[in-house]
Amino acid sequence: MSPDLRARYLGLELRNPIVASASPMTSNVESLQRLQEAGAAAVVLPSLFEEQIEHEEMATHDLMLYGAELGPEAHGFFPEMAPSGTAIDKYLQLIADAKRTLSIPVIASLNGYTPGGWTRYARQFQEAGADAVELNVYFLATDPADSSASVESRYVDLVSEVRAETTVPVAIKVAPYFSAFANMAQRLVAAGASGLVLFNRFVQPDIMLEELEVAPHLVLSTSDELRLALRWIAILHGRVEASLAATGGAHTPEDVLKLLLAGADCVMIASSLLRHGPQHVETLVRGVRAWMSEREYESVTQLKGSLSQQSCPDPDAFERANYMKALKSYTSEFA
Ligand SMILES: Cc1cc2nc3c(=O)[nH]c(=O)nc-3n(C[C@H](O)[C@H](O)[C@H](O)COP(=O)(O)O)c2cc1C
Repeated sequence: MSPDLRARYLGLELRNPIVASASPMTSNVESLQRLQEAGAAAVVLPSLFEEQIEHEEMATHDLMLYGAELGPEAHGFFPEMAPSGTAIDKYLQLIADAKRTLSIPVIASLNGYTPGGWTRYARQFQEAGADAVELNVYFLATDPADSSASVESRYVDLVSEVRAETTVPVAIKVAPYFSAFANMAQRLVAAGASGLVLFNRFVQPDIMLEELEVAPHLVLSTSDELRLALRWIAILHGRVEASLAATGGAHTPEDVLKLLLAGADCVMIASSLLRHGPQHVETLVRGVRAWMSEREYESVTQLKGSLSQQSCPDPDAFERANYMKALKSYTSEFA
C-alpha cells in the first residue's frame, strides 16, 4: 500500500510535506501552477519588503505635500494617483490570482524587522485570500548599543502586532543567530506564532577584488546546509506548540526524509527548484514515497519526529557531545 504522505502545517492540510519556499519561482501565477502540478503541497509567495512600502509611503507623502502647495483644487488628485500600481497593490493582486488559480494553500510573506504601521498589510494579505502569513525577518544588529534583549523584544513585538491584525495563522522565518534559540522560539510562539520557519538564510556581502567594491553575493544552497535546520528542528520538536518548517539545503528525497525524521512538519525548498525547475517537486515526492514504502512506513505522521531529540536513542548527538566526537574522529592523510 502506498504510504499516506499527508501533512499538517499551521493547521493547513497538505497533500505531502513539500512546500515551495519564497523565491522568484513563486512570483507569478504560471510557475505557481507548474509547482502545483508537480506536486507542491503549498506555496510561499516572495516577500513584500518593508523598504518597498516605506519608500512608497514617503513618495506618496511628498506628492501630497506637493499637491497641497499647488492649491486646494489640485490636492484631490494626488492621493488617488500615488498608490495605484504600488508594490502592495501588485502583491495583493498576486495573492488573489494565486488563490483563484490554485487549490493548494497560498502563504503570503512580509519582510521587515520593525513593528509598526506596515504590519497592517498582513491584514490585507488575509483579505486578499492568503491562507497564512509568513514573517520573513531579516535584521542584523550592527549597532553596539543595541542589546540582544531589545532585539529579541522587537521580534516578539512584531509577531504580536501581526497576530493582532490577523486571524489566519502567522509563521515567522528567523535566522539562527540567537544566543538562546530554544527560549527565543518559545517566546515567539507565546507571542502568537503558529509556526517557525527555520532558518532564514542571509545574503552575505562579498568583496570584488577587481572592482574594489562590496557586492551582495547570493549563492544557491547545497545539501550541506541542511544540518543547521535539522539540529534545531530535532531539538524543538515536541517542545514548542507550533508547526516547524525546515528551510535551507533540502535538495534530495533523502534530505526531506532526514528533516521529517528530525520532526519537521513540512520541508520548504527554493534553491533546488531554481536549479532543476518545478518538476523537481515530483522527484522529491516520488523518492520520499519509495523510501517509505521500502521500509513499510504507513504515513508521514508515523515517521515524523522519530529521530527528534526527545525520541532518538542518543539525545546528546544533537548537542555538545557530538562536537568532541566529530573533531576527534576526523582523519586526513596530512594530519
Ligand atoms: C533568489 C532567491 C530569492 C529569495 N527570496 C525570498 C523572499 O522573498 N522571502 C523569503 O522569505 N525568502 C526568500 N528566499 C529564501 C528561500 O525562501 C529559502 O528560505 C532559502 O533559499 C533556503 O532554502 P533553499 O536551501 O531551499 O534555497 C529567497 C532565496 C533565493 C535563492
